[in-house]
Amino acid sequence: MDERIIATDEQSADDWQYSLRPRRLVEYIGQDKAKKNLSVFVKAAMSRREALDHVLLYGPPGLGKTTLAGIIANELGVNFRPTSGPAIERSGDLAALLTNLQERDVLFIDEIHRLSRQVEEILYSAMEDFALDIIIGKGPSARSIRLDIAPFTLIGATTKAGALSPPLRDRFGVISRLEYYSVDALVEIITRAAQILKIPIDVKGAEEIGRRSRGTPRIANRLLKRVRDFAEVEGVKEISEDVANRALQALEVDSAGLDHTDRRMLDAMIKKFRGGPVGLETIAASISETRETIEDIYEPYLLQLGFIMRTPRGRVVTEAGYNHMGVIYPSAQNVEQKLFGFEE
Ligand code: ADE
Repeated sequence: MDERIIATDEQSADDWQYSLRPRRLVEYIGQDKAKKNLSVFVKAAMSRREALDHVLLYGPPGLGKTTLAGIIANELGVNFRPTSGPAIERSGDLAALLTNLQERDVLFIDEIHRLSRQVEEILYSAMEDFALDIIIGKGPSARSIRLDIAPFTLIGATTKAGALSPPLRDRFGVISRLEYYSVDALVEIITRAAQILKIPIDVKGAEEIGRRSRGTPRIANRLLKRVRDFAEVEGVKEISEDVANRALQALEVDSAGLDHTDRRMLDAMIKKFRGGPVGLETIAASISETRETIEDIYEPYLLQLGFIMRTPRGRVVTEAGYNHMGVIYPSAQNVEQKLFGFEE
């Protein structure tokens, strides 16, 4: 994927962020609803001395699904075994992972929607009966044997809950959705990270970074480090609103966290297609991106901000989107026609 500073995917240069990961639920900021429920389920499972029910965490990238899964294992006092959907190529790979688990361990599968059908089918009996059905041999002499495995907790993470097959989704006892973080929560996260990394920052500086981080801690922490570079080069001791503002401007991250590609897309929709409705393919072609990139990477945050809207006839730039781009919104009559197709 791309290396935009505001990209939500994990980049190799993000390894330092591991040191910032909270280890306990009380250190984990935000996601109050998920946190509260999970803490009840963890306590109940521990008091019964049972494995926690399987948990599905879903939501946009960069919100801390892996971190939360690690915390759950830590709170349960068991081993955390992380892997990912694409890494489990064959059923044998999964069988090896499952047979190595100890009682109540957490097996974490990131991007669980990318498991192959074959592998997924092995998972069903593992999740339901803590058993593995393995076929030995080929042809008429092939037979199936059942292997018991230790009771364990599967934590699956996905950015696309809709892409999960219903039989797999139904086997999770707990389904938890992670939300974009509020600016207040991001300010807390940035302040905590700054303390750990020994970066002096004041509240206004943290707010400036928080506002532009797309509701995403991974981006907030990345921006914090880049802003520190600016502060250091300028000989500024503490990150203030002013330094943060100038640094983020230089990085082309605007007041709402949009970078130049987001702005290019809004600009094309407004100027070339009069604000829409315009189809994804057309938008993609007009800014030389693929439809998938627009749909998976640019669009979700613009939708979340309410700068664009989906309509049956295509994407439309909203009044907030026009305002953000500094362009006057077309008259009410035109908008009605645009959204509902009424002809006067
Ligand atoms: N770092 C990244 N995400 C975090 C969170 N939710 N709480 C605390 N620190 C974090």
